[in-house]
Amino acid sequence: MVWGRGSVVRDVNGKEYLDFNSGQMCAALGHNNPRIVQALHESGETLIHSHMSMFNDQEIILAARLAEIAPEGMNRSMFLTSGSDSNEAAMAIAKRYTGGYEIASPAVSFHGMNDSTRAVTFSGWHEGYGPYAPGNYPIIAPYRYRCRFCQDRPACDYSCLDTSFELLDAQADGPLAAVITEPLFSAGGVIDLPAGWLAELKRRCEARGALLIVDEAQTGLAKLGTMWAFEHEGVVPDIFTISKHFGGGVAISLAAITTDEIEEKASETGLVVGHSHSNDPLPCHAAIASIDIILEEMLTDVAQRIGAYWREHLERLASRHEIIGDIRGRGLLQGIELVSDRVTREPAYARGREIGRHCWRTG
Ligand SMILES: Cc1ncc(COP(=O)(O)O)c(C=O)c1O
Repeated sequence: MVWGRGSVVRDVNGKEYLDFNSGQMCAALGHNNPRIVQALHESGETLIHSHMSMFNDQEIILAARLAEIAPEGMNRSMFLTSGSDSNEAAMAIAKRYTGGYEIASPAVSFHGMNDSTRAVTFSGWHEGYGPYAPGNYPIIAPYRYRCRFCQDRPACDYSCLDTSFELLDAQADGPLAAVITEPLFSAGGVIDLPAGWLAELKRRCEARGALLIVDEAQTGLAKLGTMWAFEHEGVVPDIFTISKHFGGGVAISLAAITTDEIEEKASETGLVVGHSHSNDPLPCHAAIASIDIILEEMLTDVAQRIGAYWREHLERLASRHEIIGDIRGRGLLQGIELVSDRVTREPAYARGREIGRHCWRTG
């Protein structure tokens, strides 16, 4: 690829594509959004990089803007570079806060590809990089379309959580530090949470003194029609992380903490999380511009509107094509599950790859 504007990218041969993935889901505000480009120019004129232990103006402005759009009481934030960094930081905070080290995550989750986050990534890419540090466990994913617990019942009855926690409790070596989850599983197959599941999960975490970390890399900042996907579930996590399109295409991520109490206790234990580019003014400046765009252009409403249009279209396709077994997700993160037989639900992997190649060919 050599060029991009809005939803279109161009390759080295001049062929253009409608970029349905917005890069690696990081250019959701459009490629080279002019306001992001403007922020980069301004940082070029002022300050690109700064020492992470000295405050710079952009990180302070960004922290204040985030506190305005985060749930009440979630005032503390830190800025890192990738989604993997932010989840690693969130887990480090949970370990320091609880004194435990064990972490669980649903078996379809994706949280990153550094060692600590790959250890709790179970949607794939887990095998062959071990041994991982001890204390990372999968729990059963609430995947209604293929659930062995409640697929044939009218609604999820959370028996997946009962079984998971029975096993977690049995193998616990001490206090559970955290459960980390996506609020709508992305890489694992666009799987939305059954109603009430996240609240049930939070209750089980609270009962054990563990923190609930929600990874909003793919789902946060208006993309699903609410500012945060956990709002849709009526749950406020203890920590949530954002990354991906946070910087409008520029690498920046965040770990946000619910309460002053969690941040202060973690800091008192001597918590240190940071990298050479933590809190750099340039990506913070881009992230401020990104929040401005999301608020001023009312992108939560836009995502709802486009999401409804898209859903209608997917449903029309499903009424014509037997290969579509299920439609899931909401807003700008929706997916179809391809099956070779709607009754047996046999996955149609090869046809999926063919459809992918067709899209490449036709741009
Ligand atoms: C839900 C989720 N969390 C974390 C990550 C990791 O982010 P990064 O690739 O920026 O490290 C991803 C990346 O795809 C993701 O989808």
